[in-house]
Amino acid sequence: MILSIETSCDDSSIAITEIASKRVLFHKKLSQDSEHSKFGGVVPELASRLHAKALPAILNECKEYFNDIKAIAVTTSPGLSVTLLEGLIMAKALFLALKLPIIAIDHLLGHIYSLFINKDEVLPISVLLISGGHTMIIELNEHKKVKLIATTLDDSFGESFDKVAKMLNLGYPGGPIIERLARDGDENAINLPIPLKNSEELAFSFSGLKNSIRLAIESNRYKKEDVCASFQKVACLHLLEKLEKYFQVSNIQDFGLVGGASANIYLRSKIELLCKKYEKRLHLAELSFCSDNAAMIGRCAIPFYLEQRFEDPFSLDVSPKSRLFIKN
Ligand code: KG4
Ligand code: ZN
Repeated sequence: MILSIETSCDDSSIAITEIASKRVLFHKKLSQDSEHSKFGGVVPELASRLHAKALPAILNECKEYFNDIKAIAVTTSPGLSVTLLEGLIMAKALFLALKLPIIAIDHLLGHIYSLFINKDEVLPISVLLISGGHTMIIELNEHKKVKLIATTLDDSFGESFDKVAKMLNLGYPGGPIIERLARDGDENAINLPIPLKNSEELAFSFSGLKNSIRLAIESNRYKKEDVCASFQKVACLHLLEKLEKYFQVSNIQDFGLVGGASANIYLRSKIELLCKKYEKRLHLAELSFCSDNAAMIGRCAIPFYLEQRFEDPFSLDVSPKSRLFIKN
């Protein structure tokens, strides 16, 4: 079994995954959303203190598995340094106490592996990763090599939901709140330009849309439900337009939607239609594994374990930036 730890942002999570069956045997996550909500975003120092409190408590609940654990997997990049460190320190303590090797996992690869929890990998696959920190199209091929196809020029998809929610004083995280309010709104109430509409570039941008929304809110002409619906429609249309451009040139048959914002049902239904049009097999993670969790980190660690790709625990450090696209 692999014991995995995820603390890249504001979720403290530990999982136990069986290596042979790829099944999750234990998974627990303590979300800090309510603590950060009053600040309208994650406060890193508060998040790390809450991780220090939560991790030992969760670990205590899975002690029965300790004799069967073969390795510790821990997210070491990307994320907030001070919160990643809480997970890494716990992993190093377990290395010292239980003499287990450490596997360092990049959070972005972890999100891709959320598609393969409790099952085998499907490779090659292309994914749209949409989270609070990233908006990317990534290809993962049979040799487990990753290729970055597109990324955002400014804000990420999830972050733009958080910022619009903050402008409307709706709380944090903004994604689920905006999606809920949007259901009662008119998505055509505000005429908003679709970002990078006339650009051939495979890239994303959300800051212009965010500013258009700011102006709409300041005009006091629209109900908040209409603001949410109009924003969500255009943010999703932008993703869909760029994804369609990518589908036109890619011959990878399998496509996955991952990351915390992939829980958005409105977007899921539009992506399903696009995948049908381009004959892509759509893979989605279970809703409970879309946002940050240790189960995806444990699942991602299995191929590393099988290749015995372990880290030196004494020199292992965290990195706020992803290490996924660094060429070795
Ligand atoms: O992957 P994740 O849990 O954490 C990061 O790695 O960033 O993603 C969190 C992000 C937040 O920005 C949150 O607002 C967004 O995902 N999110 C959503 C939805 N649920 C979460 N965005 C849009 N619609 C949702 N339903
Ligand atoms: Zn994430």
